[in-house]
Amino acid sequence: MKKTVLLLCGGRSDEHEISLISAYHVLQAIDRKRFSPIVVGIGKDGTWYLEEESSFYVDGLSADTIQLNTKRPKVSLLPYLDNGRGTLQAGEKHYAFDVVFPILHGPFGEDGTLQGLFETVGVPYVGANCGSSWNCMDKERTKLLCAQAGIPSARFVVLHAAQEFTSKAKAIEELGWPVFVKPARQGSSVGINKVSEEKFLEDAILEAFCFDNKVLVEAGVVGRELECGVLGLRSKPKASVVGEIVPSTKVGFYSYQEKYLASETELLLPAPLDEAQTREVQALALRVFSVMECDGMARVDFFAEASSGKLLLNEINTIPGFTPISMYPKLWKESGVDYPSLVTRLLELAYERKGESCE
Ligand SMILES: Nc1ncnc2c1ncn2[C@@H]1O[C@H](COP(=O)(O)OP(=O)(O)O)[C@@H](O)[C@H]1O
Ligand SMILES: [Mg+2]
Repeated sequence: MKKTVLLLCGGRSDEHEISLISAYHVLQAIDRKRFSPIVVGIGKDGTWYLEEESSFYVDGLSADTIQLNTKRPKVSLLPYLDNGRGTLQAGEKHYAFDVVFPILHGPFGEDGTLQGLFETVGVPYVGANCGSSWNCMDKERTKLLCAQAGIPSARFVVLHAAQEFTSKAKAIEELGWPVFVKPARQGSSVGINKVSEEKFLEDAILEAFCFDNKVLVEAGVVGRELECGVLGLRSKPKASVVGEIVPSTKVGFYSYQEKYLASETELLLPAPLDEAQTREVQALALRVFSVMECDGMARVDFFAEASSGKLLLNEINTIPGFTPISMYPKLWKESGVDYPSLVTRLLELAYERKGESCE
């Protein structure tokens, strides 16, 4: 029986636009013989809209112009299963769905809050569960949990308020320069600055606090940026080939601009590593996936530190980008799983996690 997939996109986070682009491409790739999609767009204010597949976005597919079509009927999710299926209501009408694909990045989409809603309803959904998503979204929690499992990352100082900047000045100074200042729970490099001198630090901290009430000041790592895709349930995950990001020397890191607008960043697929190094990255990516209790998918990002040759965990993304320039689908394509097969596999895994099959 054909399954109805509720594709959720947009969302309240600053990665709203990236989510719309990801959703467009997932829709193109979904296997229509097995799945039929219903698209629900979430506005920046949190309102849910029942979208037409052909017009869920307006103003093109570029990150700086794309917008959700908010002229559509508003919908609400009913908080229970009806005959084993999820139900949406728009006006007087009801729409049933079988499985959710949240293609949402950042807070209120990737951070477990929405996943908690699906768990309450009891409907299968793609990706990590509520608790795992929460831990993975939070860069401090990720580092702490992984450190406990012996997986190293760059040293950092955490700030819970911009005023802590003065009381923690010594600890920050000890990190050395440059540092990276980042909101604890964001993505797409939003609110991140590389700071090479103390005089620019306060402004960077104030900017990061515009995006979260917890900020990390992290020791800058000199080395290579390596990324590895993971696909599967926690009990049997698989690692993709390893990719490398070579940021343009102008910006010096993989910024939002570099990710989605005028990119001069190079992606190397696969990364030029020898076999042992590749295996080491893959093994560590699988360990991170398991320590963080992920399911379905994740992209695990590392630095290979130049001075020590050691791998340091940067972060884990439980709903990585699915745009045409996004690393996760590219890594899997390079590993023999093309974009449509990846989407199908993720939907199958949503069922398998519940011990069910989507045939
Ligand atoms: N400690 C660090 N050392 C060197 N570069 C960093 C460091 N932290 C972040 N960066 C650079 O900034 C980019 C974005 O940071 P990241 O922590 O991955 O945030 P996001 O979740 O927004 O992708 C990275 O891809 C990398 O280029
Ligand atoms: Mg990143």
